[in-house]
Amino acid sequence: MKRLGGKNALITGAARGIGLAFAKAYVREGARVAIADIDIARARTAAAEIGSAAIAVEMDVTRQDSINAAIATTIDTLGSIDVLINNAAIFTAAPIVEITRDDYARAFDINVSGALFTMQAVARHMIERGKGGKIINMASQAGRRGEPLVAVYCASKAAIISLTQSAGLNLIQHGINVNAIAPGVVDGEHWDEVDAFFAKHENKAPGQKKKEVGDAVPCGRMGTAEDLTGMAIFLASDESDYIVSQCYNVDGGQWMS
Ligand SMILES: NC(=O)c1ccc[n+]([C@@H]2O[C@H](COP(=O)([O-])OP(=O)(O)OC[C@H]3O[C@@H](n4cnc5c(N)ncnc54)[C@H](O)[C@@H]3O)[C@@H](O)[C@H]2O)c1
Repeated sequence: MKRLGGKNALITGAARGIGLAFAKAYVREGARVAIADIDIARARTAAAEIGSAAIAVEMDVTRQDSINAAIATTIDTLGSIDVLINNAAIFTAAPIVEITRDDYARAFDINVSGALFTMQAVARHMIERGKGGKIINMASQAGRRGEPLVAVYCASKAAIISLTQSAGLNLIQHGINVNAIAPGVVDGEHWDEVDAFFAKHENKAPGQKKKEVGDAVPCGRMGTAEDLTGMAIFLASDESDYIVSQCYNVDGGQWMS
């Protein structure tokens, strides 16, 4: 039996990487998905590849008008939003003495404000509809503890864990479950950029940082986007109705809490 049959999901930042893997996995489980991304060309390609169960929606999570328009388009086209994954985020890194206000503001605008105000707008729709819903926020092991060169990104993901706790407690009265996933190190284009940053700042050869972080994972390798899909399906399904405000580590054994 398909676990997400009849459900419609809006996934932000789903044109590539983890969000795209979630979209494909959700469709395999019977859902229809809106691939919402600032990169609309790539979102369209992704949706076309998936087929008729996917639509591409242009969305910049830093702009309220864009959030509202993307949600309205998704509801008009699919009929409702039963599941939201707040997945869009950017990575940023710098030594403390080099962090700029612009970089900080941009990271928090996308990673934190974007997730909060998308969650708010979708929660309003879910409350009005009266059928509950599932909201999944993408946190990170970076939100569990600091890192010397990654202060702003780590802080943004700690904020996601905290917002998930508060929103979960506030929205469960409406049958809306809010939970989070904290991945560890997941290979893909995002980590290509992280690897390039560390090559510059720690004088490493290209690929060396990836190898080091993969070797340090108890499972012995970096994760793949597909390693995360089981948790994302579970948290979107009726099987998670009694789970509120949690953040699950899916990280090959990196973090325990
Ligand atoms: N890759 C990892 O190792 C890792 C680890 C822990 C947590 N995460 C988290 O998982 C999520 C997905 O990560 P990923 O590796 O697939 O990232 P990614 O960089 O590959 O994809 C992010 C997507 O977000 C989109 N995006 C960027 N700014 C946007 C905006 N303003 N509005 C809408 N969309 C926007 C991008 O176009 C892109 O398609 C992120 O929240 C990330 O922080 C990733």
